[in-house]
Amino acid sequence: MKNLVEKLKINQLARPMTEGEVANTYPLSILSKWDRFRKKDYDQNLLNVPKSYPQIYVHIPFCSSGCSYCFYDTNVGKSVEEQKRYTDNLKKEMDLRTDKISSSVSCGASIYFGGGTPTRLNKNLLGELIDYVSQSFPLQNEGSFTVETSPETCTAEKVELLLQKGVNRISMGAQTLEDRLLKKLGRAHSSQQSLDAIKRLRESGIAIFNMDLIYGLPSQTESSFLSDVRTLVRKGVPEFTLYHLRINPSAHLRDYENDLEKQLSMFANARDFLIDARYSQTRPLHFVKKDYLAKSKKYKSAPTSDQRNNQRKGFVLGFGSSAVSQIGDYLFKNKQGLIKYSLAVESKKIPGEKQFKLSKRDNEARCLIQNLTQKGKLDIKEYQKRFGNLTVEVEGKLTKIRKLGFVESKERNKLKLTDEGWICADMIERYFYP
Ligand SMILES: C[S@@+](CC[C@H](N)C(=O)[O-])C[C@H]1O[C@@H](n2cnc3c(N)ncnc32)[C@H](O)[C@@H]1O
Ligand code: SF4
Repeated sequence: MKNLVEKLKINQLARPMTEGEVANTYPLSILSKWDRFRKKDYDQNLLNVPKSYPQIYVHIPFCSSGCSYCFYDTNVGKSVEEQKRYTDNLKKEMDLRTDKISSSVSCGASIYFGGGTPTRLNKNLLGELIDYVSQSFPLQNEGSFTVETSPETCTAEKVELLLQKGVNRISMGAQTLEDRLLKKLGRAHSSQQSLDAIKRLRESGIAIFNMDLIYGLPSQTESSFLSDVRTLVRKGVPEFTLYHLRINPSAHLRDYENDLEKQLSMFANARDFLIDARYSQTRPLHFVKKDYLAKSKKYKSAPTSDQRNNQRKGFVLGFGSSAVSQIGDYLFKNKQGLIKYSLAVESKKIPGEKQFKLSKRDNEARCLIQNLTQKGKLDIKEYQKRFGNLTVEVEGKLTKIRKLGFVESKERNKLKLTDEGWICADMIERYFYP
């Protein structure tokens, strides 16, 4: 692992998170470099969207507690009245925006309720909101409908509600099974609650469920992380998203220094174990049990809590505070924070705050990354058909990762990640960001 870390560092592939970075959008741009939201650009881009199927993202900014590492837009301890004001505003935002888009959108490719913790919502409010979204954007056949949850809010009655409303995928943040770490991180549940929730999900009949884990947490050992993964595999978890601890200046845990060598080693061991246990690495952080992949292709492409995967695909409509939409060549980010968001919607305004125009270089990088780390293969000829000859910069970077042994070419003009490339796929992605 030492050699791998040296290779990554010397060749500047190990890029730490920078101040103000929007962690879960692509490109990893600094928000201060985004422009102010302009409704004219928003309207114009919507008109130009060909009839197609957007991914729907709905942000629910409520949680049971504030976790020390987290940098998402969330609120703790909000009353049912405050939750209702928010869900009413979400519906208003959908009305405001679907007025314009109904001619171009007939149904959604997927629906994703993320957060925050959507199951923290009062049961009636959650049920009504799901109905509203499902009516506004009926799901395409084979579309996935995911709701994020946490162990303490994944109660029997919420799971029953989700199933009854057509949700076919649940994604839960377990993070770690070590109680002392859960406590230190400010999580609102014990490891036993995570295991109980998993049992509930398995017995509920939900089509598939994902577990988020974080590795590289302060004082977490390599063996304890591996032991968590083993336990969860034994308990029948079909899908995993393994996040390395991301340090962001806006989180409480902002001064901790990541140990890259330890993190890579934790990931490599967990990856080996999952691959032996018949899971496929479908994306840089994401593993799905092969039996499920054989059942439906939606399990490979369902959006994840790592929003970068989702936006790369094209048309995304994000609703709620801080939600990001991708329309044409633009990213539009909604106002962040309950009050700012609510005031905008209540005065009947599209609650946009920032926008970012993707350049040709951005689009090239997105295409390249998507092919390499999601479709599993980069076909240089296909890429050239779309973007013309490789630029000197892209060609140089591809040559470098090939020399470093992160990609190989067994077929002419086609590149695939090697095992070592898959271990640091997240960094390879970031390396290609302009
Ligand atoms: C919106 S949360 C998921 C659901 C729920 N709120 C929970 O925490 O149980 C999305 C996921 O992002 C991951 N995450 C959040 N902050 C992170 C950080 N600083 N580093 C790594 N992963 C992080 C966590 O694994 C978390 O489960
Ligand atoms: S990790 Fe999940 S539960 Fe914790 S603050 Fe972030 S969104 Fe909320």
